[in-house]
Amino acid sequence: MPQTLELATADLPAGPAGALVIYVAEGQVPAGAGGALWAATGLDWQSVSRAARFTGKAGQLIDLPAPKGIAADRLLVLGSGSMTAEAPLSAFTERGGSLVAKLGRTASVAVILDGPELTPPAIAEIAAGIRLRQFRFDAYKSRRDEDEPETLAITLHLADKPAADQAIADRTPVVEGTLLARSLVTEPPNVLGPVEFAGRIEALRETGLAVEIIGPEEMRALGMNALLAVAQGSARPARLGVMRWQGGAPDAPPLAFVGKGVCFDSGGLSIKTAAGMEDMKGDMGGAAAVVGLMQALARRHAKVNAVGVVGLVENLVDASSFRPGDIIRAMSGTTIEINNTDAEGRLVLADALWYTQQRFHPRLMIDLATLTGAIIVALGHDHAGLFSNDEALAGQLQAAGLTTGEKLWRLPLGPAYDKLIDSRFADIKQTGGRPGGSIVAAQFLQRFVKDTPWAHLDIAGTAFGAPANEINAGWATGFGVALLDRFVRDNHER
Ligand code: BES
Ligand code: MN
Ligand code: ZN
Repeated sequence: MPQTLELATADLPAGPAGALVIYVAEGQVPAGAGGALWAATGLDWQSVSRAARFTGKAGQLIDLPAPKGIAADRLLVLGSGSMTAEAPLSAFTERGGSLVAKLGRTASVAVILDGPELTPPAIAEIAAGIRLRQFRFDAYKSRRDEDEPETLAITLHLADKPAADQAIADRTPVVEGTLLARSLVTEPPNVLGPVEFAGRIEALRETGLAVEIIGPEEMRALGMNALLAVAQGSARPARLGVMRWQGGAPDAPPLAFVGKGVCFDSGGLSIKTAAGMEDMKGDMGGAAAVVGLMQALARRHAKVNAVGVVGLVENLVDASSFRPGDIIRAMSGTTIEINNTDAEGRLVLADALWYTQQRFHPRLMIDLATLTGAIIVALGHDHAGLFSNDEALAGQLQAAGLTTGEKLWRLPLGPAYDKLIDSRFADIKQTGGRPGGSIVAAQFLQRFVKDTPWAHLDIAGTAFGAPANEINAGWATGFGVALLDRFVRDNHER
């Protein structure tokens, strides 16, 4: 039973509430409408802030119960950090989210948002942060946490309500896309297999997306033997999900987004060790991000043509599993020598990328995949790996990530890495061993990309396993949805 969030905007000043929230920037004193509220308490700012060791750093808090002169049970003073003109939008997302974690049992909250930095897009980020931090995946919890109110009502009090409402209405579909991706990643693998995942995609028709679901017979006819090889050890059949959004000129080639959708990755015959294997329910994080993005583009009526393609399989151990040593002919005609059935994601993507390119002739192609453990060794959990054959595309993606707080670090591609997947018996082999594992995986993918501008995001370290932070109560992140929405807005909708 999830907690219901009622998030609204209203004019200043705020009326009575369970808690009133004001923000104070680093080294500053309460100002504007927040300053007026503070003044009503009759308290001396210098002595209270000194006693509370409050300097205005982001995350700091003064929690005043039963404040005099104010119609609220609590006055919360939150630090908003140093708000320079260059602060990325994500600083505001965090400002909103950091509030939610501090509310405890309080059920009605009025937030004073008054300051020169609080433009409509900044306010929309604060609202986004509140929604992102409040989200919990508790579909399988029989009882709600007694320490939390059933409904949390938060009202943002601000100067220009019409402008704020418009910015929030434009941002909310993207938040919902991120939350959809988190839900898909978190669903247990018995519940969400390839067929069920495809069913969730079909439900998106009501948003205006054109949806096609392709099954094993059609995939076989298309020659998608690489994707099908991974699926053959599972009793649950594979699916390829295709989503199209036509918001641009009718004949403009689409932007293409391709996702790895391994609903559970046991490793196959090259089986993984037991520790942490349950996390491999999240090995469809790339596909989840693509689905969340496509839903967001449709719901906010993005002025762009886009196509999302996700390869949905389950990698299991069975008498019919594919084996190390097998040679498989991919849809492109390239033969692949299997040497580790746990490197399954690149096989799924090889066919999904080829299919996307051949059918849609996209203007560019971006894939997302929880592809390699090696990217976690290289970058940890704070950056996703970025690989690209196009300088401009790589730069645009990195810039989008800095704005949304989904950071990308670019790694190289090159012929010396490509050589590592030359095979003795087939056109290529599947892996090149441990050195540069993430790069070699990207090199493998590039063998299935012609001259389309292409980028690959290895999100193995950023899609799930996150500790709680300002904008997430924990585990699945929805990484990639806001990033790619920002990339589309900034580069393809003007
Ligand atoms: N899904 C995994 C990668 C992964 C690991 C994602 C940890 C998230 C967290 C992928 O299919 C895999 O198993 N990759 C292998 C590749 C190797 C066999 C070349 C790996 O990283 O060990
Ligand atoms: Mn694997
Ligand atoms: Zn995998």
